[in-house]
Amino acid sequence: MGFLKFNPAVYVIGEEYEVAVAVESFGLVTVRVGDEIFYEDNSGVLPTEKLYARIRIPQAVLDGAGGYTVVFRRTIERKSYWSTLGEEETAVYSFKAPRHGKELNLYHISDVHYCFESAKKVASYFGDDTDLYIFNGDIGEVQTDEDYLAVCRLVGEIAGGNIPVLFVRGNHDTRGRLPEKYTDYFPANGKQTYFTAKFGDLKLLCLDLGEDKRDDCIEYGGFNNFHGFRLKETEFLRALLSKGEEFDMAICHIPSSINNSKCPGDKFDIDGEIFEEWNSIIAKLNVKVMLSGHKHKAYVLNKNDKRSIRPHDFPIIVGSVADDDYLMGAALTLSKETLTVKFTDKEHNVAEEYEIHLPTGSVNKK
Ligand SMILES: [Fe+2]
Repeated sequence: MGFLKFNPAVYVIGEEYEVAVAVESFGLVTVRVGDEIFYEDNSGVLPTEKLYARIRIPQAVLDGAGGYTVVFRRTIERKSYWSTLGEEETAVYSFKAPRHGKELNLYHISDVHYCFESAKKVASYFGDDTDLYIFNGDIGEVQTDEDYLAVCRLVGEIAGGNIPVLFVRGNHDTRGRLPEKYTDYFPANGKQTYFTAKFGDLKLLCLDLGEDKRDDCIEYGGFNNFHGFRLKETEFLRALLSKGEEFDMAICHIPSSINNSKCPGDKFDIDGEIFEEWNSIIAKLNVKVMLSGHKHKAYVLNKNDKRSIRPHDFPIIVGSVADDDYLMGAALTLSKETLTVKFTDKEHNVAEEYEIHLPTGSVNKK
């Protein structure tokens, strides 16, 4: 690996890729694509006194190049005048750009909860035929910066620095000693952990429902304001609607049709009116299907399924099983009108298979 701690990650966000690079020593990290050099955006000052860099590149540039080079120069001395950097070191990566007009293989994994070895086996279902990895939250709670880097290492080991990744926050990613540093490591627009993302011809709406219990729940000790966060996210959704935007798929760790509330007013009874508005807007944004995890079970909800506690005019894939070290994810094959969903384990056994007809939202279990 040389100067790299592990493989970079290439995250999709907006119409850009964010290349995230962890290095063994302080230095300047840049990414070269063809003849063009891309730098970390840091108010004009190129950072060298840290071990993790994130560099945005327009998708069209990296898609066209099919590869990139991470360029590193170790910091020898940084001072007011005559700073010095070491010789250039490089690591070359090929890159699999999204294919157009062809079937796409997307692997969805969430609720890993630090079972990293199982996660790697589960996520390897499509092997080299994977087009996009979707990490949909609850990968691990974080006490230290090293915990964040352990998650980044997992992403690098699964995606190899070659295959794009969509990474979305789950409620357990808001727990631990250092959840406030989430946006120092993973894609967000500033502090907004909800965003849109383009992937080839696909338009993705990435949402963050926050915690699964009320902000005043005694377990949280007064550290959360997810109600305020959700109100801002509602404004974000309203703005997308007013601009006439449309999306193919929504990704949200906790399914917005359901929460764990057994009865109104209990600690899980959070912001139901907000989620009703979200579901209404999501349907108007022409979203064909939502991808979720959180429940530690794998199933598909029909439109307005009777198991849901609020209406949703789109099917919802609840796509992960987590039972200690036993994990399952969702292998998704997307064609123009059909999404095939297979729930698969670390031996690549298929537990259940569904076919969703995207224009109508009808769900058929195979
Ligand atoms: Fe969760």
